[in-house]
Amino acid sequence: MRIRLDKFLTDMGLTTRRQAPYFIKSSGVTINGRPAVSPHEKVDPDADVIEVAGAKVVYKDKHYYMMNKPAGYVSATEDRRDPTVLDLLDEQARRYGLFPAGRLDKDSEGLLLLTNDGDWAHRIISPSKDVVKTYYIEVDGLLTDEDARAFAEGITLGDGLKCRPAVLRVLAAGERSKALVYLTEGKYHQVKRMVAARGKHVAYLKRIAIGALKLDEGLKPGAYRPLTEEEVKSVFEKPAEI
Ligand code: URA
Repeated sequence: MRIRLDKFLTDMGLTTRRQAPYFIKSSGVTINGRPAVSPHEKVDPDADVIEVAGAKVVYKDKHYYMMNKPAGYVSATEDRRDPTVLDLLDEQARRYGLFPAGRLDKDSEGLLLLTNDGDWAHRIISPSKDVVKTYYIEVDGLLTDEDARAFAEGITLGDGLKCRPAVLRVLAAGERSKALVYLTEGKYHQVKRMVAARGKHVAYLKRIAIGALKLDEGLKPGAYRPLTEEEVKSVFEKPAEI
């Protein structure tokens, strides 16, 4: 497959389409060792060696990241009122055309996937694919075995919407209970509404895994990193603990 040099460079986040002619002139872009002259030149990403300032650029048009989403940011590509998770990206990553593969509420934290691969995102979000999302929650009020049984049967939300069976694993029961929730769907405010249907209130929510992919605890809130090839696949595997 041959593509235009400016597409090659913009897919890699190195420049923008508009700035590509200047970038090619000023950054020492070479194709198989000879200086590139025009953004319209065609290159074969698998066969040609493209270098920028002497460093080989390995082509990828699909990009996959995990972020530790902090509270206060919305999981969207733009918003009129609030900062979005894309505002946390550096200039290069912003050029990849990333969007969140699934949402977390503004006040929620934890594992958020960002990609420009629509098929991959769709498979993660679609309930029919059974991808398990794992949440750590803290709840005002006592979580009980009865709550866990109700989750297993399928909670009916306040508006009558019936949820799929889900797992509620209580870690600590008390005035502020702690638990893990495993879901295969992602209705709006779903965990909060499931807990509210049991007469309790979620005070804190953090997503800690999607499929077998766990949040990298080395990522500070707001930090992000690319996924490895293995990790990209691991979201479609079951988490080890269920
Ligand atoms: N469920 C919620 O209620 N909020 C989230 O952010 C994710 C799942």
